[in-house]
Amino acid sequence: MARETNEVEDASVLDAQIVEDYEYIVPQSSQLTNPFPMPSCQGITLEEATIDQIQDYMTQGVLTSQDLVQCYMERYFQLNPYLNSVLQVNPDVFDIASDMDAERANGTVRSPLHGIPFLVKDNYGTKDKLNTCAGSPMLLGSIVPRDAFVVSKLREAGAVLFGHASLSEWADMRSNDYSEGYSPLGGQSRNPYNLTINGGGSSTGSAGSVAANMIMFALGTETDGSIIDPAGRQGVVGLKPTVGLTSRDMVIPESHNQDTTGPHARTVRDATYILQYMYGVDENDDKTAEQIGKVPEDGDYVKFVSDKSALKGAKFGLPWDRIWSQAKEDEIERLYEVLDMLTEAGAELINNTDWKNPAASISVDGWDWAYGDTRGFTNESEFTVVKADFYNDIKKYLAQLNNTNIRSLEDIVEYNYANDGTEGGNPGTLPAFASGQDSFLASLEWKGVYNETYYQALDYIHRTTREEGIDYALNYTDPSTGENFQLDGLIVPTSVSVTYQQAAMAGYPVINIPIGIREDTARPFGLSIMQTAYGEPQLIKYGSAIEDLVKGRETPKFYDYLSKVVPVL
Ligand SMILES: *[C@@H]1O[C@H](CO)[C@@H](O)[C@H](O)[C@H]1NC(C)=O
Ligand SMILES: *[C@@H]1O[C@H](CO)[C@@H](O)[C@H](O)[C@H]1NC(C)=O
Ligand SMILES: *[C@@H]1O[C@H](CO)[C@@H](O)[C@H](O)[C@H]1NC(C)=O
Ligand SMILES: *[C@@H]1O[C@H](CO)[C@@H](O)[C@H](O)[C@H]1NC(C)=O
Ligand SMILES: *[C@@H]1O[C@H](CO)[C@@H](O)[C@H](O)[C@H]1NC(C)=O
Ligand SMILES: *[C@@H]1O[C@H](CO)[C@@H](O)[C@H](O)[C@H]1NC(C)=O
Ligand SMILES: *[C@@H]1O[C@H](CO)[C@@H](O)[C@H](O)[C@H]1NC(C)=O
Repeated sequence: MARETNEVEDASVLDAQIVEDYEYIVPQSSQLTNPFPMPSCQGITLEEATIDQIQDYMTQGVLTSQDLVQCYMERYFQLNPYLNSVLQVNPDVFDIASDMDAERANGTVRSPLHGIPFLVKDNYGTKDKLNTCAGSPMLLGSIVPRDAFVVSKLREAGAVLFGHASLSEWADMRSNDYSEGYSPLGGQSRNPYNLTINGGGSSTGSAGSVAANMIMFALGTETDGSIIDPAGRQGVVGLKPTVGLTSRDMVIPESHNQDTTGPHARTVRDATYILQYMYGVDENDDKTAEQIGKVPEDGDYVKFVSDKSALKGAKFGLPWDRIWSQAKEDEIERLYEVLDMLTEAGAELINNTDWKNPAASISVDGWDWAYGDTRGFTNESEFTVVKADFYNDIKKYLAQLNNTNIRSLEDIVEYNYANDGTEGGNPGTLPAFASGQDSFLASLEWKGVYNETYYQALDYIHRTTREEGIDYALNYTDPSTGENFQLDGLIVPTSVSVTYQQAAMAGYPVINIPIGIREDTARPFGLSIMQTAYGEPQLIKYGSAIEDLVKGRETPKFYDYLSKVVPVL
């Protein structure tokens, strides 16, 4: 719209003109009100509703699963043109909801998830009318033999699969320089707090759909940060389980050493319900056998959900060297404020609980899974492990599909070259994939060889992040009394990306709790708790306690909602 303000001399006329124009000009960053208020659902406030609340409504008979699906469908049509958080809607979703309603009417409530709609990232195999593609058109029409194990468990618990969430294509395995949340199939998945900026990834749409109240919960996957990073940047709870607690069967893989499946939710209690019905031993994923004897004896994680009173007497470590010392300027004031709140609530914070040798695994230049290579040691690099694993793991996954010619990394790379204009096979073709498919090429070059270099790297990343890293920091000896004890967790700023990278290499669990909104970009940020293998009970207990104390989640305001900029930074 052209505004001829230069011809207006009377200042009051100018004011009037501007005011009038503002009815037509989209108020961008300066917008004061939420442009996408969420309508009520059958007179019930669905926005920010918890699983417990929804179950109560369904028990009372004032809301059905079909109502929920209808309301989320309307939300999808309201928001998805802007956010692209949802990649595909399940055409059977109303039928599934109707079945769950009939069961409930007949007296069967399978679990707290009965009738609750959810999304899974597009790399979860679902044996239905949906495509499982990790965002890549090359897998359209391929047929999976079965649901991913965790998806089948959630279906058994009565949860209603609404569709697939958007993601960074191939869960970020393909490129070093890319736009987070972009896939050729799903387009750019956007951060609902500020659509011009990076929503984190690779489970971008999983976190974003939950943040924008487009769904009750979503599943993400993580190899290195892909659940925790988008949870932090989009203001939701992300729970990344220990590698081995939740099955990866029929999930498009990166590395069997590091891949996990886990939830995004708006509260820790909701995330815990989901974990409760996801975890378990799966004969198709050997790694899950390791959980035997390490999960709660009664199998119940939900009992660990707590409130701020649990903080009294809790002892947390603050790893300072290369972690807190890298906290972001725009977050530090609030982070310190939260630390003060923790102390006032009765927790003891112990500073300088560091890794034995922080420089061995923690980069000072941000997230870098080739940090070993950067230091000149391929035999000490996380990327050596991931790139070798990917080559073999993707081949095994693809071998299980029907109706596809894509059988190997060679085929994947070839497809991207052959369709350069949409797939960005070459550097510089697409703004979303500035470096083309360089990570794929690195994996292709290594060809999945498991030799001494690989095993040295695997041992190295485990040792430096486990016994000399997270476990070392958790095992605290008071220098003045000599008393030795295990800390209840390590508290770290989520935005310091090297934190979740440590947990990724170790295969250890992390939880993100939203604590505030940054002033520079209006995006959320969080605080994470780190623990040792199978430390989920502590993460749930203290995560819910901190959530109750801080109440740091805010709903998005959709700043710059017309932005279609790519790449997002
Ligand atoms: C209702 O419950 C009865 C008895 O358990 C069962 O036989 C019937 O199939 C159920 N109907 C539905 C719609 O679930
Ligand atoms: C693939 O096709 C074969 C032959 O028809 C069949 O036996 C097998 O079950 C199919 N697998 C999947 C994943 O559909
Ligand atoms: C922790 O110790 C470092 C020095 O190692 C210091 O700079 C920092 O301010 C301390 N943080 C807190 C919260 O006490
Ligand atoms: C292991 O294999 C990789 C890829 O072929 C190669 O670069 C590396 O030098 C090998 N390491 C050893 C010790 O042979
Ligand atoms: C990696 O190789 C270097 C020699 O190039 C050696 O000094 C170092 O100990 C090796 N690292 C591991 C973890 O074996
Ligand atoms: C904790 O550290 C102490 C003292 O350094 C050591 O003796 C003990 O074995 C460690 N415990 C664990 C569980 O690593
Ligand atoms: C949104 O992010 C952009 C940077 O991409 C920033 O310039 C703008 O101020 C942000 N909007 C708000 C409301 O903070």
